[in-house]
Amino acid sequence: MRFAHAIERTVVLPIRSNDPDPMLRALASLFFYTRFFTRFSRVGLRQRQRDWQAYPERLDGQTWLITGASGGIGAAIARIAHARGARVLAAARSGDKLASLVRAADTKMVPLQVDFSSISDTRRLVQDLSARNERIDVLVNNVGVLLDRFELTAEGLETSFVTNLLSHFVLTEGLHAAARFAHGAAVINMSSGGMYGSPLRLAEMAANNGQDYDGMAAYAMHKRAQVELTRAWNRRWQGSPRGYAMHPGWADTAGVQTALPWFRATLRTQLRSSEDSADTALWLGTTRPSPASAGGIWLDRVLDPEHAFALTRKATPTADDLYAFLASKSASVRENAK
Ligand SMILES: NC(=O)c1ccc[n+]([C@@H]2O[C@H](COP(=O)([O-])OP(=O)(O)OC[C@H]3O[C@@H](n4cnc5c(N)ncnc54)[C@H](OP(=O)(O)O)[C@@H]3O)[C@@H](O)[C@H]2O)c1
Repeated sequence: MRFAHAIERTVVLPIRSNDPDPMLRALASLFFYTRFFTRFSRVGLRQRQRDWQAYPERLDGQTWLITGASGGIGAAIARIAHARGARVLAAARSGDKLASLVRAADTKMVPLQVDFSSISDTRRLVQDLSARNERIDVLVNNVGVLLDRFELTAEGLETSFVTNLLSHFVLTEGLHAAARFAHGAAVINMSSGGMYGSPLRLAEMAANNGQDYDGMAAYAMHKRAQVELTRAWNRRWQGSPRGYAMHPGWADTAGVQTALPWFRATLRTQLRSSEDSADTALWLGTTRPSPASAGGIWLDRVLDPEHAFALTRKATPTADDLYAFLASKSASVRENAK
């Protein structure tokens, strides 16, 4: 036990600590990916698929809003939900990619061009959806990026923080405040197994200092924060909408090809398809199990624990601290914009 703890402290900590020693970082990555290989790769999917039960998949009459819907896992969720009868509001940045998504579909696939690295643009989306009187049955907060360089948005915030977390907060809170969710709706937050390597730290999360920037560590922390934010929302919402944090496993998408080329080259034959990784979101959005009070993160229709290492368990900051932090960050953009 003490040995395992020592491994965690010496090997896992550097994943998020921007350790300048390349050997330690390489060792950390090796430990991390070996630890989770079976569960997150196609191997884990095949194992869990054996226990899956058939469920009524039709989604006629429902409206699904999916962010980051023009490529990868988001596009797979959008296509499958549409094929099952849902009206799909597909939100992404590139007009060309959205055009190719809707080309093969009927009018129930609605493209929404929005840049989720912009709080103003995310707010505009909320206003547009409210003006159109949309009722959302399922929101999938799927958009997410892993950047290798520090970038500030025009609103003065770190780009991946806004894309991966703050825009989800602004979109979901905005829709909730405008009473846009249907009764018993589902809000699905697309986290990542990367969150197993990171505790929640508010001060580091929205790094505005490029010197210490580590895109992988920032990403892992945003993904941890999505899990905590789900807890905060479920406490506030008391059953409607229902919030879920999920993890798609490792999928061979354009995002992975660009952000983690070495990872993709090494594990390519064991990565899932986007459709494989879309399954849990489709299942959650359709079956909507009661959220567990203890939280957890869904993968392949199974609720897994939120922590794999002792060092990520922290009494503070709490989910409510995170909620207040995000509310204050989004308000700061409002003030700056005046
Ligand atoms: N793939 C994996 O193995 C894996 C593992 C764990 C977690 N995840 C998570 O799953 C989610 C989807 O991942 P993916 O691999 O499918 O990603 P992806 O291939 O990079 O696709 C991302 C989608 O998001 C859109 N997007 C990116 N930035 C945007 C912005 N600022 N505004 C609006 N849309 C934006 C992209 O469209 P545009 O080009 O139009 O911007 C694209 O449609 C992410 O949250 C990711 O962290 C993925």
